[in-house]
Amino acid sequence: MTASFDDIVSLAKKRGFVFQASEIYGGLRSAYDYGPLGVELLRNVKEQWWQSMVRQRDDVVGLDSAILQSPEVWVASGHVESFTDPLVECSNCNHRFRQDKLPESGNCPNCGEKGTFGEARQFNLLFKTFMGPVEDEASVVYLRPETAQGIFTNFENVRRTTRKRLPFGIAQIGKSFRNEITPGQFVFRTREFEQMEMEYFCRPEEASKWYDYWLAERHRWYVDLGMNEDRLRLRTHETAELAHYAAVTADVEYEFPWGWDELEGIANRTDFDLRQHAERSGEDLTYFEEGEDERFFPYVIEPAAGATRTTFAFLLDAYETEEVEGETRVVLKLDPRLAPIKVAVLPLSKKDDLVATTEEVAQQLRRRWNTEVDVTQSIGRRYRRQDEIGTPYCVTIDFDTLDDRQVTIRDRDTMAQDRIPIDNVLAYLDDKFAGAI
Ligand code: GAP
Repeated sequence: MTASFDDIVSLAKKRGFVFQASEIYGGLRSAYDYGPLGVELLRNVKEQWWQSMVRQRDDVVGLDSAILQSPEVWVASGHVESFTDPLVECSNCNHRFRQDKLPESGNCPNCGEKGTFGEARQFNLLFKTFMGPVEDEASVVYLRPETAQGIFTNFENVRRTTRKRLPFGIAQIGKSFRNEITPGQFVFRTREFEQMEMEYFCRPEEASKWYDYWLAERHRWYVDLGMNEDRLRLRTHETAELAHYAAVTADVEYEFPWGWDELEGIANRTDFDLRQHAERSGEDLTYFEEGEDERFFPYVIEPAAGATRTTFAFLLDAYETEEVEGETRVVLKLDPRLAPIKVAVLPLSKKDDLVATTEEVAQQLRRRWNTEVDVTQSIGRRYRRQDEIGTPYCVTIDFDTLDDRQVTIRDRDTMAQDRIPIDNVLAYLDDKFAGAI
């Protein structure tokens, strides 16, 4: 059986994946804290993205730009003027909603009344704050709503210092902020979130080829990390949906418990951003290659994914319940590369000799993989807990281990057990993980 929305929210809280931010003060709506397991999962998702988008490629380099940028950046990019969503207010209960996310029935999602919404007004999603001690118009700065602009403003710096030639990409992972009108569905839509974005600069005449390439490549990434292919699809945007900078966009969508929704957008941003920044800053952001007559603005293909949203989707997708010997077991069938804990070492009892051997084995494993030692409760309950948090392998130390220096290794998915010498544990697991982690 697959997961319901409530299954994941309760697992996330119960096992320490995600907590409501400021929970002891009643919680801050739409902000979340990632607990000990959540931070590992989120880091693993980001690490896999970075590996596949930057480290395993010769044509993409990384960047980490500031969250605060000159306000000019957001004027040039069009965000100050056009980064808006249509907001409507219910005249009965005065709740505000994003018009394009209202239910088809037209009823107010809060009070249920019909025909109570007035004209929509455009609401700007930029988070504003002040830089320095004076709080006036001149000191207004914005928290970035996308990581992409730091890439565009550094285009020439990166090109010059890396001597990259077209086509090449610049990738960045980091926090973004949007004053969303209707945050919700747990960590799916929040006001503070993390993005994984890459801007791929290419010749204008090659933009459509690279757009197709990145569509296929990004879809492949989710499938390779074990996401159920039947719950993934690519959907091209209608013209009316396109962001102000995009000529064409397709979303990688996942079938969430509430229906198909966006995981990632892949857009052809044309030369919109480089042109805008060149014009407003007065800097030359055109590209030139030796032996050619003309300078030109490169086009940009942008695969833009959400790290926090994707982490949520991996969690949902991995969750399964199975009947085992008349009991229900919950198991997170996460790809080992994503699993927060790779190996758990479990002594059969808390007796000193077993705990000493447990530590000896755990010490070896920790050098390679994120390893947890769990000594409390019955072995059955400890297996269930490790299944529930997605640990691919459990190593059990029992009383025979003290004599024969052998341990039992249990596979999360098949529950099959192998008995092997302690000295072979590293090689055994290395083989199972296929060197991938
Ligand atoms: N630079 C292009 C850009 O930002 P986007 O489609 O607005 O495009 C890219 O955002 C991705 O960022 C989305 O596909 C989604 O995964 C994530 N994202 C956007 N807004 C979000 C929010 N409020 N909460 C969580 N993730 C969000």
